[in-house]
Amino acid sequence: MPDLDAKIIVNTEFDIGEVDPRLYGSFLEHVGRAIYGGIYDPHHPTADSHGYRTDVMDLVRELSVPLIRYPGGNFVSGYRWEDGIGPQNQRKVRLDLAWRAVEPNLFGLNEFVEWARMVQSEVMMVVNLGTRGIDEACSLLEYCNFPGGTYWSDLRIRHGYSSPHQIKVWCLGNEMDGPWQLGHKTADEYGRLAAETAHAMRQLDPSIELVVAGSSHSRMPTFPEWERVVLEHTYQVVDYISLHSYYGNANQDSRDFLASSVDMDQFINAVIAACDYVKAKMRASKTLYLSFDEWNVWFHSQQQDQTVAPWQVGPPLLEDIYTLEDALVVGTLLITLLRHADRVKMASLAQLVNVIAPIKADPGQPAWRQTIFYPFLHASKWGRGRVLQTLIRAPLYSTRQYGDVPTLDAICVDNESAGELVIFGVNRHLTETLTVEIKLENDQCYRGGEHVILYHDDLMATNSAADPNRVRPYATSINSVIRDALTLRWPPHSWNVIRLKTTTDDSR
Ligand code: AHR
Repeated sequence: MPDLDAKIIVNTEFDIGEVDPRLYGSFLEHVGRAIYGGIYDPHHPTADSHGYRTDVMDLVRELSVPLIRYPGGNFVSGYRWEDGIGPQNQRKVRLDLAWRAVEPNLFGLNEFVEWARMVQSEVMMVVNLGTRGIDEACSLLEYCNFPGGTYWSDLRIRHGYSSPHQIKVWCLGNEMDGPWQLGHKTADEYGRLAAETAHAMRQLDPSIELVVAGSSHSRMPTFPEWERVVLEHTYQVVDYISLHSYYGNANQDSRDFLASSVDMDQFINAVIAACDYVKAKMRASKTLYLSFDEWNVWFHSQQQDQTVAPWQVGPPLLEDIYTLEDALVVGTLLITLLRHADRVKMASLAQLVNVIAPIKADPGQPAWRQTIFYPFLHASKWGRGRVLQTLIRAPLYSTRQYGDVPTLDAICVDNESAGELVIFGVNRHLTETLTVEIKLENDQCYRGGEHVILYHDDLMATNSAADPNRVRPYATSINSVIRDALTLRWPPHSWNVIRLKTTTDDSR
């Protein structure tokens, strides 16, 4: 059978918006082996004097993650942040009711701020609006950001941090619409509390950016009414609303699973509509932005997690081992986030280490890269600059959940500062190669580049500690000068990145 044909058209004059680097954020929660046995493991051969695994830090740095959400997730809704500060040997051991684990509090706020600096990331701090409220949120902000001369800021100084942490981005609770959340609230209850907390926090530090909690996913019975009600309380005092979504292939229907980004796209459009409805209703001039601060594939570990004994420190929870198929879905989710770069300004791949993560860190072993590491790495490293309007013509295939879906998904980013035009794309077809014509409608010519491909014959192939490079990308060079178009073959079920070097063509 001949290859299937597809076409991508881009014109550098027409863009969607600038990529905010914080689109490539991630998330570290006190859950499972993310902190204890993940980033913090004093017994590991690579641990530094603080107990931080340096092999894990190297992989986090490789991913260039500009922002990391902390400390939860569900965990934060029962957390007392004061338990995690001060001399380590005086800290209290507590029950973590969200994950039914034991929290030793050996790693807390100051350790995280230091660790984040070491991996060149900013902190996105989440406050507890489940079991706590305005007062604790303000104490935490005062401890972190106030220069000194007050109870909490002086305590920080006594703990060894004379300069304020200057944490800019703050989330007002986590998934407060979810009945599983400690301190779950109705939209009215949460909206009132979030607005009052935001008001008090801004009085303390007007320079912060605030994220109000949106729905936990688009299938919540309260979505999108939750957004309307919460925003009617908070529109003028917050900057972003959060979205969360996880995808899985529990039904073993790869055609559907590979089209998961259709759901993410519809979810983003619906939240934008809710924001703009409230904007119009309130006669507001300000536009609200979106923070997609939990997204990923999550389903492999769910059954296994039912068998994990409660009340352990660092239990092996949410340890999905990712396939090539999962990496393709992560690729299409990244493409979708980029396609909404005008409104989605921040996003967090959930999570970063061990727990539904691109990085695995097992005791005594070197850390290794999961399949999903690669699309995230490529987008984070090369997907900077202006997202271009990207037109696609591709054969359709039918899915049970999403109707007819294009076999090809792609987005183009003009990374002017790196002198590159970058196309990210997925061939969703399970068996056929796509012959993709990329039409470049502008006055640039491109002096070669490379085509990076993530592919394996077995769609279900995974990496492991024993075979960490079974699924890894390979690159072929593009040596010709490209003026109007180029045609490349994209293997079936593959992630593709085309990087074209820009140069001014004087002959045109
Ligand atoms: O990331 C795992 C969990 O998923 C988070 O704790 C919670 O916010 C979400 O439901």
